[in-house]
Amino acid sequence: MARVYDVRPAGPADLPLLAAIESAADALVTDLLACDPALFDATPGERRDADPGFLLVVDRPVVGFAQVLEEEGTAHLQQLCVHPEHGRLGRGTALVEACCAQAAVRGYDALTLTTFRDVSFNRPFYERLGFVVLDQPGGVLARHLRDEAAYDAVSPRVAMRRAW
Ligand SMILES: CC(C)(COP(=O)(O)OP(=O)(O)OC[C@H]1O[C@@H](n2cnc3c(N)ncnc32)[C@H](O)[C@@H]1OP(=O)(O)O)[C@@H](O)C(=O)NCCC(=O)NCCS
Repeated sequence: MARVYDVRPAGPADLPLLAAIESAADALVTDLLACDPALFDATPGERRDADPGFLLVVDRPVVGFAQVLEEEGTAHLQQLCVHPEHGRLGRGTALVEACCAQAAVRGYDALTLTTFRDVSFNRPFYERLGFVVLDQPGGVLARHLRDEAAYDAVSPRVAMRRAW
């Protein structure tokens, strides 16, 4: 049976803990792709919290988080991280589902993201959760892909969307 996790909006006590979770989670990617860890600069939780959108966390104390940006009429999953010590137990899935539910409540009909095409816990993980790869991403997604050109130089990136 799937575990039920305490996914909740980030509070002030969570914010200082998010960058360390992000650094630990990013190590999964940099180890796999054998790339420079400096490519993935962890963002302070306080800065994420100040962005337009919402920030959800899982567990108390927090061990994972998801940031959704609300921009130009879209909801975009900007970051999803679970500390590897707590990985592969359903928390990433719970965060994604909570992001979709919250985006729907806010009136959006889809959640978008960009991710690595060939990393097992990126594109295939999201496909299992109902996201599809977009062949010709435009607008906000095209901008995100342009902004992440340094990642694309390491391993191909894709844009994905889950609609409801
Ligand atoms: C992506 C991420 C948030 C998933 O969190 P999680 O709590 O492990 O997610 P879940 O337990 O719900 O699902 C895990 C599934 O992802 C895949 N996965 C997760 N970690 C993996 C790993 N180290 N190696 C291979 N597959 C992995 C597996 O398919 C796994 O399912 P399984 O354990 O049944 O095989 C987490 O791996 C992470 O923080 N990764 C680093 C940052 C990242 O890539 N974020 C996404 C950016 S778009």
